[in-house]
Amino acid sequence: MKNGLEDVIAAETQLSDVDGEAGRLIIRGVSLDHLVRDSSYEAVAALLLDGLVERSFDEALLREWLASARIRVFNHAAAADAALLALPPVDVMRALIARLPDGDDFDTALSLLAAPAVFLPAVLRLRRGEDPIAPDPSLSHAADILRMLTGEKPTLEQVAALDTYLVTISDHGLNASTFASRVIASTKAGLTSSVLAALSALKGPLHGGAPGPVLDMLDAVGTPENADGWIRDALDRGERLMGFGHRIYRVRDPRADALKGALAPLIASGQVNGARGALAEAVETAVLAALTTRKPDRPLDVNVEFYTALLLEALGFPREAFTGVFAIGRTVGWLAHAREQALEGRLIRPRSVYIGPLPTAA
Ligand code: CMC
Repeated sequence: MKNGLEDVIAAETQLSDVDGEAGRLIIRGVSLDHLVRDSSYEAVAALLLDGLVERSFDEALLREWLASARIRVFNHAAAADAALLALPPVDVMRALIARLPDGDDFDTALSLLAAPAVFLPAVLRLRRGEDPIAPDPSLSHAADILRMLTGEKPTLEQVAALDTYLVTISDHGLNASTFASRVIASTKAGLTSSVLAALSALKGPLHGGAPGPVLDMLDAVGTPENADGWIRDALDRGERLMGFGHRIYRVRDPRADALKGALAPLIASGQVNGARGALAEAVETAVLAALTTRKPDRPLDVNVEFYTALLLEALGFPREAFTGVFAIGRTVGWLAHAREQALEGRLIRPRSVYIGPLPTAA
């Protein structure tokens, strides 16, 4: 048995493949760089769900249905009372999603796809004492999320950046949250239960909870000149550097470059403080130099969360909401995997090796 099920094959999937040696991600036969260049979030969602739900559709139809689903779930945000709003945003989202009906049908899947995108902006506004903004079905998913967050029309560069983010993180092999989603689906509990389990797995700092702490690290480093010394001290203290390292990738996470590319137009058009980008470059360089020296046998490189932090900050999301934005993008992957698992049909039920004491003879 391997700790953390490392290298254990636990499912067959036609959804995505992570090649950790080549640094390549394929989603349903298309490489991430092509998807980022050519496809909207709605197109990738249609690609992932194709053949796994009872209705057939294309990108345009899914965009229309998803927009209607955003409107349908909006009223549920009103259930976020003061006690709930005191919790971290991702926990409020989870509580609101738990109120949606459970089931395996396509309408349940659509509501679950829409819910995180509607609930997170609403929760963030309610926490600031502002009224939630109702969805606008004429907008793309990415544009509507940004408008529901700020109440203003987002720029083309902002919409493109969020759309790229949602595409980039839509699915990623059998990561911890996706595995959780498949385990629940194998019991036939329903898609809402699968998404709740996945969201609970995602929020941990070793999975989708890392980008907030990435910004904390950048703030603590402060200036590019401090990067080398700060990183050296952190590693001497035995700290894990958030946004670096990965179970599968032995080279650079291809999603990091997709997000760095999405950030560039925002910097070039003056919509983001360029100093943040320069600090991030200095920290990345310092971390890679330090890790290469200290761990020559275990290649550790930048992962998706490092540039997620910079991108979501640039788009105006507060750092405590970053895991929730991750959930907005990843829900389609969880749903596709849950459906794939349910259609495959067999209960996931592994075994453990008992290492506890044996009963004493009477
Ligand atoms: N900073 C410093 N050392 C590290 C890091 C890091 N970020 N990541 C791994 N190491 C070290 C680790 O301490 C261990 O050293 P030793 O053998 O001396 O104990 C060695 O590298 C191997 O680490 P591991 O824990 O066996 O690696 P893993 O495959 O279990 O963990 C990871 C993968 C992502 C949990 C880990 O790299 C990590 O904690 N990174 C920081 C958190 C982070 O950025 N998470 C987001 C992951 S990407 C999003 C996603 O796809 O879910």
